[in-house]
Amino acid sequence: MDQPLLTVRDLRVTLSTARGPAEAVRGLDFSLDRGETLGIVGESGCGKSLTALALMGLLPDNGHAGGSVLFRNEDILRFDERQMCDLRGNRLAMIFQEPMTSLNPLHRIGNQIAEPLQQHLKLSRRQAWERAAELLDRVGIPNPRARLESYPHQLSGGQRQRVMIAIALACDPDILIADEPTTALDVTIQGQILDLIRKLVDDSGMALILISHDLGVIAETVDRVLVMYAGRAVETGPVHEVFAGLRHPYARGLFAAMPRLAPGLAYPRPRLPTIPGIVPDLLDLGTACAFAPRCVLAEPRCRGEFPPLVAVGPRHGAECWRTDMTEERP
Ligand SMILES: Nc1ncnc2c1ncn2[C@@H]1O[C@H](COP(=O)(O)OP(=O)(O)O)[C@@H](O)[C@H]1O
Ligand SMILES: [Mg+2]
Repeated sequence: MDQPLLTVRDLRVTLSTARGPAEAVRGLDFSLDRGETLGIVGESGCGKSLTALALMGLLPDNGHAGGSVLFRNEDILRFDERQMCDLRGNRLAMIFQEPMTSLNPLHRIGNQIAEPLQQHLKLSRRQAWERAAELLDRVGIPNPRARLESYPHQLSGGQRQRVMIAIALACDPDILIADEPTTALDVTIQGQILDLIRKLVDDSGMALILISHDLGVIAETVDRVLVMYAGRAVETGPVHEVFAGLRHPYARGLFAAMPRLAPGLAYPRPRLPTIPGIVPDLLDLGTACAFAPRCVLAEPRCRGEFPPLVAVGPRHGAECWRTDMTEERP
């Protein structure tokens, strides 16, 4: 069998803080095949964005990534900035929650799309501008030629996100990482942007890592899901299998807070689910289950020993001592 396109092994992200080193991603393992779609879901602060930034080589200055990220059999965590630059926007592309922060307000949209095309694909300025117009058309922006002349502030939030998607697609990446791509948008626009991402992924065959705090978005969009808590993957598997039989109490809590979740149910977007307690302090995670302090099923060993990864199906796993207690649906 072919190697996966991306293999993440024991990924760790350590942040130096005034109070000492904090581990925000604590040994993440996953792989992604060509054309596959993976969702990463979890509450705010669980390490989703830092995971994405580590893959892209874009961690903040006080962050450091350990473990390995094999992309086409090369460990890109060992790449230098020049090699990473080559990969970004070319083989790996990312879109962020707030498109305005990634677009340069001083440059025309056309330049911002054309520049990576000139840089990575060595197109002439004219060819790049041509291709930029095609890309805007592909992401559903009317009047693309005229739009190339616009500045970011002349576009709506949804259009700016479309432009970001056009930039991400410019060089036909193997993997698109979308970090909460619709969270900053109005509800009606959210659906349109997700539809666009789904369509582009289907048409191009690129792989997708979709990050969201919203289980509904994940359920509707991806093949496989990874539920993250305090920097760990606490439950993973094919999306339908996982949602039909969630086994980790945290994942069940997220799900239970969204009783109307069903495939095809798009709107209105449910609010951020609530589970009693707060996400733990990264400096104080200890060596037991990080969810135990919030878990209704916790027993003494949950507070004393790190939980095992339990196979609950051929490709479905949960990292928990109490999977025996969660066989029924919540
Ligand atoms: N540069 C940083 N310095 C210190 N802590 C950070 C930094 N960036 C993120 N964090 C912390 O790391 C944790 C994970 O952050 P993040 O990956 O952004 O979470 P998510 O995207 O899941 O909401 C959070 O507790 C956040 O406060
Ligand atoms: Mg985030």
